[in-house]
Amino acid sequence: MYNKYIFTDITFIMCLCIYIRHRIVSSGSSKQRRGFLISGGCMASGLIASYGTLGWMSAKFLYPLENDMVQWQYVTPISEINLGQAWEYESPSGAKVVVARQSTGVTADCFIALSGTCPHLGCQVHWEGHNERFFCPCHNGVFDPTGQPISGPPAAANQTLTQYRVKVEEKLLFALVPVKSITARG
Ligand code: FES
Repeated sequence: MYNKYIFTDITFIMCLCIYIRHRIVSSGSSKQRRGFLISGGCMASGLIASYGTLGWMSAKFLYPLENDMVQWQYVTPISEINLGQAWEYESPSGAKVVVARQSTGVTADCFIALSGTCPHLGCQVHWEGHNERFFCPCHNGVFDPTGQPISGPPAAANQTLTQYRVKVEEKLLFALVPVKSITARG
């Protein structure tokens, strides 16, 4: 249905442009030409803008933006996570997140947040500071500090741990994590 209206209006815009061009060419004074140009341009811009808005709203409804699904969530004061240790956190959607501290600084790049759910069969993954690796005890799955698989079934299937963005504000750690589960969106 929308296609029909869009096609009709594109045809209208094209006719309008041809008409404006004709009037500009045939009109005598430059003042008249400018007037045609401005009024025609306004009409065409209005139509294009309204379809742009309609398209954006449709896309947002059909394909929710990332911001609808993830949000910055407070995790913990950074002082709670010592070097080599990890903080286990659960997002509002129930996603398990492991935040590991990888250096002594106080900026976001000193921390890494990865999914705590093993991509193999869904067991809980733990950070092992002394080995500098994430480990899944179910089938000895091993991941490096960035979540890349090293050994075990995840390595065989090239399954990585999902990484989440982190930020530090006022010495508090935040992670950009899922707040709605995909299945809950009906
Ligand atoms: S569930 Fe993690 S290695 Fe199998």
